[in-house]
Amino acid sequence: MYEDIEKVLFDEEDISRAADDMASCINNDYRGCRPVIIGVLKGSFIFLADLVRRLEIDFMVDFIKASSYGGNTESSGKVKITSDISVDIRGRDVIIVEDILDTGYTLSYITEYLKGFSPHSVKICTLFDKPGRRTVPIKPDYAGIVIDDMFIVGYGLDYNEKYRGMPYVGVPKTQSNKTKE
Ligand code: IMP
Ligand code: MG
Repeated sequence: MYEDIEKVLFDEEDISRAADDMASCINNDYRGCRPVIIGVLKGSFIFLADLVRRLEIDFMVDFIKASSYGGNTESSGKVKITSDISVDIRGRDVIIVEDILDTGYTLSYITEYLKGFSPHSVKICTLFDKPGRRTVPIKPDYAGIVIDDMFIVGYGLDYNEKYRGMPYVGVPKTQSNKTKE
C-alpha cells in the first residue's frame, strides 16, 4: 500500500518514545490544571490521540482548522481559520497540538488568534519541528523530533491527502502539489 515511500525515517517506536517524553513534560507542567488541548486539523489527529492517552491530568479537547492560501506548495503567510474552536478558552490554559512546525505562519496565526479570546496561557506542542525552515520567529514549547528541511508523510501527515494512516513516518518518492492543512 505504501510502496512509494522512498525512506522510512521514524518507526512506531521512535514516535512512541517522542510521545512519551512530551506527555511526561505536560504531565509535570500541568499538574493540578485542566488545560484545553486544541488540535490543529487535519494533520494532528493521530498524534493528539496518542498524546492524550499518555496524560495523567484532566483536560478538555477541541480542534481548530486553518488553511494557508495564495501558494501551492508552501505556506504563503496568508492563513485563515476554516473551522473554529467550540470551547470557551477565556482564562484557560491552552495547549495547541500540531503535527509539524514548518515556516511557522500557521501556528503564529493560530496562536495570536487564540490569544484574542484571553486565555490564561497558550503553549505549542508539535510532534515534528523543522527549525531550518522558519520564516516567522516562533518556538514550540514541546517539540518531539527535530528534522532537517524535508517533506515527510505518515502518522497524520499527508501528501495530497495520502499517507495519513501510515503508522510510521517517511519521505514519499514524489513531492509536488503538497497539501497544506
Ligand atoms: P507552516 O505554516 O509552514 O508552519 O505549515 C505548517 C503546516 O504545513 C503543517 O501543519 C502541515 O500541515 C504542513 N506541512 C509542513 N511541512 C510538512 C511536511 O513535511 N509534511 C506534511 N505536511 C507538512
Ligand atoms: Mg497541519
